[in-house]
Amino acid sequence: MDMSAAHGTASAHGTASEQGTAAEQSEALPAGQKGTFRKPIRIGVLISGSGSNLQAFIDAIGQGCLDAVIVKVISSRPDAYGLVRAQKAGIPTCALDKDVFLDPAAANRLIAEELLNAGAEYVVMAGYMRKISEEVLDAFPDRVLNIHPALLPSFKGAHAIQDAFAAGVKLTGVTVHFANAEYDKGPIIAQRGVEVREDESLASLEARIHEVEHELYPATLQLLAEGRISIDQERKVRISG
Ligand code: GRF
Repeated sequence: MDMSAAHGTASAHGTASEQGTAAEQSEALPAGQKGTFRKPIRIGVLISGSGSNLQAFIDAIGQGCLDAVIVKVISSRPDAYGLVRAQKAGIPTCALDKDVFLDPAAANRLIAEELLNAGAEYVVMAGYMRKISEEVLDAFPDRVLNIHPALLPSFKGAHAIQDAFAAGVKLTGVTVHFANAEYDKGPIIAQRGVEVREDESLASLEARIHEVEHELYPATLQLLAEGRISIDQERKVRISG
């Protein structure tokens, strides 16, 4: 599918009449930004734990580096610290309760419903440790993103950093990709390598990978916000500009 229909167009960012004409908007902007108006993208973020990537989005938005609005944070666990981060930032939250949690289809239905109701355009998984399925993927076609702490397709799975470390690779890294029904598959949007240093400990490698995640994920979302990401006919991601 050509993603140009899904990103950076009136349908993804509101109709022309909702936004006002480009000329009207352009007049309201400082000189250097004239003609570059876009509405911020509306994202729903899925978490399960600490939420340090969520915090990176909140910070990037606050610093003006990410044109996005986080419309809702949904956690698969009620005790996830990421929920506290969201609440501190004034973002509406929702935690899956135990009954829903135990039924994957019900969890995915609830996520799709909550995020559609919140007006999300994209679903951003940030350390979300449950499987995402068709209920969400069909509601947000080619609009669900995930981050993985290795250079996919190597070291898929929940223990990627440890697995790469144990394998003794010299280079690992971070991947941001569109999600599909298979774990850690789907078109790759961005990757950044992290060299494993001599005598490096697992803890230090983990810390350096997380640092890269916190730069790469907001920067990739900003490419989406700028309408620069598309998927070609071979299902490869193309980045314009
Ligand atoms: C990140 O390393 C991410 O790549 C992996 O889970 C971790 C989430 O960390 N999928 P946080 O909850 O964003 O701190």
